[in-house]
This record gives sequence, C-alpha cells and structure tokens, in this order.
Amino acid sequence: MPPTDCTIAHIGIAVPDIDAALAFYRDVLGAVPETLEPTDGAAIVSLPFGDVDVELLEPRTADSPIARFLAKRGPGIHHVCYRVPDLDGALARCRRLGYQLVDEVPRRGAHGERIAFLHPKSTSGILIELTE
Ligand code: CO
Repeated sequence: MPPTDCTIAHIGIAVPDIDAALAFYRDVLGAVPETLEPTDGAAIVSLPFGDVDVELLEPRTADSPIARFLAKRGPGIHHVCYRVPDLDGALARCRRLGYQLVDEVPRRGAHGERIAFLHPKSTSGILIELTE
C-alpha cells in the first residue's frame, strides 16, 4: 500500500484554564504560543510542533462543546484533526461507508480553513476533524 496523503494537522486538548495548561508547553518544551480566533465558544491557543499543532481549548461559554466535554469527561484530548487532500471527497467516502457526520457540509475553522467533524460514535470514541 502506498503511504497515505493524509497528515495530522492538530490535536485539540480541552482544558479548564489555558494559562495553567500553557505553562508546561511553554516553560518545559519551549513552544511559542499563538492565540487564534475563538471558535465554537472556546478560546484557542495553538502551539506548533513540527507540522502538527497542539491546540489548547478553553470554554468561554457554559453551553459550548468544550464546556460540555469538560463536564462529562474532564480535561484531555478533545479531537484529532487530519489534513486530507480533498475534503469533499473524504466526506463523500464517509457518507458512503456509513460514518456519522457532525458537519454535513464543510464550515470555516479557527484558521479560516474548511473543516468538518465526524461523530465520535462512529470513530472509536475520538472526535475527528477533517481539513484540507
Ligand atoms: Co480543531
């Protein structure tokens, strides 16, 4: 099999307090944080590690998806974002193969890029984000 054209774009980590969580990445690993536009009711700080970013996600509203995740499961990995060469094609394959989509059509993510989420029920308990 040829290697996949897909790569990991970022890993989203739900935290109750970005400043507290950031200390490890900044002070131990030396990562340089970048604040992104708040998205889906969450503040986002992005930390680049090679081609993969770690995104710390802190809820800004009590009813945001990150707030609900923290209440239910506590801090931890919230989602993994894969970069695919053709988002529409990937979503079409998801539909054909029976994967449950959160976003039926792509929308804009924190970088202005096109994204779509898959439901964790059909992907081994991991919320998966796809981007191009
Ligand atoms: Co994301």
